[in-house]
Amino acid sequence: MPSWSTVAPILDRLDAQGLTPVYDALPETEPVEWHALPTQVDPTGGLMDGIRAQRKRWQVENMIRVLRGLTRPGSVIVDFGASSGNLGLPVAACFPTCQVYIVDKKSRTVDIAKERIAGSGLKNVALYPGFVKEVTFPFDVGLGLHLCGDATDQAQMLCIERGAVYIMAPCCIGFIQRSALVFPRSRAFSMVVNRTEYDWLASAADWTGRDEQGDQHRRGKRSMGYVNRDRNLAAVEHRYRVTQHTMVPSDASPKNEIIVGTPS
Ligand SMILES: C[S@@+](CC[C@H](N)C(=O)[O-])C[C@H]1O[C@@H](n2cnc3c(N)ncnc32)[C@H](O)[C@@H]1O
Repeated sequence: MPSWSTVAPILDRLDAQGLTPVYDALPETEPVEWHALPTQVDPTGGLMDGIRAQRKRWQVENMIRVLRGLTRPGSVIVDFGASSGNLGLPVAACFPTCQVYIVDKKSRTVDIAKERIAGSGLKNVALYPGFVKEVTFPFDVGLGLHLCGDATDQAQMLCIERGAVYIMAPCCIGFIQRSALVFPRSRAFSMVVNRTEYDWLASAADWTGRDEQGDQHRRGKRSMGYVNRDRNLAAVEHRYRVTQHTMVPSDASPKNEIIVGTPS
């Protein structure tokens, strides 16, 4: 594991090149009316309990807040790494004219999604068990809520390849260290940081925790911002317009960032 004295100078170099993350305010959109949705689509509806369920609700609300301005009737939306549908199912309920696909490599969790869909009565959700890279059908919007490590990059790259919108809240950023993908992702970052340094940065990005005032968390949050900035800059190099956000409330998750890209 790298020390902060190894990571901080890397961030300083990125700052000197104007590559500091820039955070945008989340769009003001209508809230999710949970009480009007089927219980089965609500993270607090039974599968999780207590604060964990509430935090998942907040994460979902943040993703939907961004999504509202980026769909139109008939949009095909993919929830990559959907697990049992914590995001995909409320999205399907909130956007009844859209078609939602639940994609996850673990068939066991997709089976739970199937039960939740049956219980909820939703008709606009389909299951697509498998890996991100196995998605071959056309889609308009790709979502990824806490899609681990480079699976976020795979999903984002697939969105860019298809000219689709992406909305990703990445997690397990340290897994990037064992990824076969090329990092840094953007040309801008690769002019300043080599792969070894990037791996240190990715490792530090996982230092975020529950104590938001602690040094460990603040250093982790700062590092996470640069990795996500690099991901967005890679999209800019494909003519995407991008934004970067912190979820509200910020303790919705230690991995509280959302990156968004729309093709121009
Ligand atoms: C941390 S969970 C998040 C689940 C859900 N999105 C949520 O926020 O509750 C990450 C999920 O991504 C799935 N996953 C990871 N890598 C994947 C890949 N390459 N293709 C498909 N699914 C993947 C895992 O199986 C797991 O269910």
